[in-house]
Amino acid sequence: MTSTWTEPSNTATALLLLGRGTDPASERGVDCPGDLPAASDPDLVARATAAKAALGDRVFVLGHHYQRDEVIQFADVTGDSFKLAREAAARPDAEFIIFCGVHFMAESADILTGPGQRVVLPDLAAGCSMADMAVLGQVEAAWDEFTDLGIADDIVPVTYMNSSADIKGFVGRNEGVVCTSSNAKRALTWAFERGQKVFFLPDQHLGRNTAVLEMGLTLDDCVLWDPHKPHGGLTPEQLREAKMILWRGHCSVHGRFTLDSVREVRERVPGVRVLVHPECRHEVVRAADEVGSTEYIIKALDAAPAGSSWAVGTELNLVRRMALAHPDKQIMFLDRAVCYCSTMNRIDLPHLVWSLEELVAGRVPNQISVDADTAKYARVALDQMLALP
Ligand code: 13P
Ligand code: SF4
Repeated sequence: MTSTWTEPSNTATALLLLGRGTDPASERGVDCPGDLPAASDPDLVARATAAKAALGDRVFVLGHHYQRDEVIQFADVTGDSFKLAREAAARPDAEFIIFCGVHFMAESADILTGPGQRVVLPDLAAGCSMADMAVLGQVEAAWDEFTDLGIADDIVPVTYMNSSADIKGFVGRNEGVVCTSSNAKRALTWAFERGQKVFFLPDQHLGRNTAVLEMGLTLDDCVLWDPHKPHGGLTPEQLREAKMILWRGHCSVHGRFTLDSVREVRERVPGVRVLVHPECRHEVVRAADEVGSTEYIIKALDAAPAGSSWAVGTELNLVRRMALAHPDKQIMFLDRAVCYCSTMNRIDLPHLVWSLEELVAGRVPNQISVDADTAKYARVALDQMLALP
């Protein structure tokens, strides 16, 4: 029997896991011009060290906490997406910013840095499945429906940092704000001072968890807009009554954790404290002992007493690094099934070496550049975030 494979059609809603500008002829979806060193090259560390030294202050390397250790060792600063956005904005003298993170973070860095600065993403395949769940056309179509219903004037749009520059631009144009997991409560407080409703993109879980657990709203105040259903799958009455209109997006890493993972670890490890990221599902966050952004998680584990046990619901590179840094504490992954963020992990040492050596050779590889009009409005929403009280 012969089987025929049909390539899935590239709809607006298809996940763009291979990043922008994909190359169907390449296995990874993108190709690096020139010589990409082999992962087995024993000289990678020496090559990265030499290239970084040759560039000196001309280059600044940002590393998100979910990056591999082999990459993190070359970061000038590490952080969550909020801290890294601030760090990018605070380096006007660096000619090149190498962003070891994912595409939406590099876009934000490009928006927040000066015109002479260039932002490099070492591997263009480092996208984000959550960011790709909200496409501008879908979001504008939803907003048109809110306008037709006569409720758009009551709504303040808020987008999580984990969204494309297009979506941040939409939010800036409509007088909203960007937020991260570190400042979501402050962003929602700001938004509710300006409107009766919030349209929260693209992470339903961060939106719901912040609204219900930190702002005193109820689950009934929240509705879920599904871009794949007519009218978002909602009635006009539901939209009129809702306080939070949540976009149906989620993180494929944090969405893995379940209530069963929490119950299982509590049975297995007496006295364990469960610490999770707010991108986890609502029931998981409710069942946890503590919830917070990656920076919060790091601080909580640093401050924990020796001998304490922790089950952590976030990306594995970070959990493993924290466990190694604190051998006197029992720090484990909340779910027994190993789960890295596959797109964060696209950035590896060969791609970092390649990026640095290209810069030394006078070429700028994989530059991330947001068009001027999008950048202008996205910057309004990002600046509003940086100015939140
Ligand atoms: P923070 O960096 O805001 O904690 O977000 C986590 C994440 O998923 C980044 O992609
Ligand atoms: Fe996107 Fe989740 Fe990966 Fe962060 S951890 S980059 S939100 S898929």
